[in-house]
Amino acid sequence: MTRVLTVISGKGGVGKTTTVTNLGLALMKQGKSVIILDANVTTPNLSLHLGIPFYPVTLHDVLKGKADASEAIYEHSSGLRIIPASLKTDDLAETSIEKLNKVLMNLLGRADIIIVDAAAGLGKEALAAVNVADELVIVTNPELPAVTDALKTVKVAEQFGTKVLGVVVNRMRGLKHELPLDDIQSMLEIPIISVIPEDIAVPRSISEKIPVVHHRPTSKSAREFRKLAATISGTEFVEKQGSLIERLFGWMI
Ligand SMILES: Nc1ncnc2c1ncn2[C@@H]1O[C@H](COP(=O)(O)OP(=O)(O)OP(=O)(O)O)[C@@H](O)[C@H]1O
Ligand SMILES: [Mg+2]
Repeated sequence: MTRVLTVISGKGGVGKTTTVTNLGLALMKQGKSVIILDANVTTPNLSLHLGIPFYPVTLHDVLKGKADASEAIYEHSSGLRIIPASLKTDDLAETSIEKLNKVLMNLLGRADIIIVDAAAGLGKEALAAVNVADELVIVTNPELPAVTDALKTVKVAEQFGTKVLGVVVNRMRGLKHELPLDDIQSMLEIPIISVIPEDIAVPRSISEKIPVVHHRPTSKSAREFRKLAATISGTEFVEKQGSLIERLFGWMI
């Protein structure tokens, strides 16, 4: 049975796409069959994180009824399968996000888990991504505006009756001005399933167009993304031993 898991936030720029690529790849490395799908049809960037900006057939073509969902599945060099959205402004016309449900129906059985990268906010794009989900993961940063918007997402999930697996608190630096985890937990009233530290390896890996779990597997963020994948798949987290060089100089690379 295919699980459809949507990664959503409320506030933009908090780390949804980073979570989708890394969680997807970490689950794949555990042996799961994974597809990641860019449901951010107005400002997509999942394919940019993976370094393949232009694809002949995209989710837009599928939503327009011009192609079958199976024609829009591509394999990244890491082995991760992706359904990209089009970066072309012209493709925005006549694209009906309401048809996302039908697209997902056609994909059932093609993977153990389909991870959907939602648009920021709570507009119709984000709601379509909630609507297709069996489960949600909500991403936030440890600051009041992001958590306030995350709370709205929790309320919307309640209205849809969609199960929320938990919150990922991303870009935690452990500084005094940040909202403490206890406060985030009591504001949202859902479990915190992952705390991803602020890590320079993340933007570096994005610039290399390779998810950090693959690019810097022993970095502190990669470790937390792997732990999140273990939580989501219900498997035991196995610590990864880097090479001696990586262990000695990991903080430099
Ligand atoms: N743990 C982290 N440490 C350092 N930088 C991070 C971390 N997570 C994300 N970032 C940075 O934050 C930026 C935004 O991340 P990302 O694109 O994943 O957010 P998003 O929620 O998908 O944004 P949007 O709402 O625009 O879709 C990226 O440029 C990335 O470099
Ligand atoms: Mg994004």
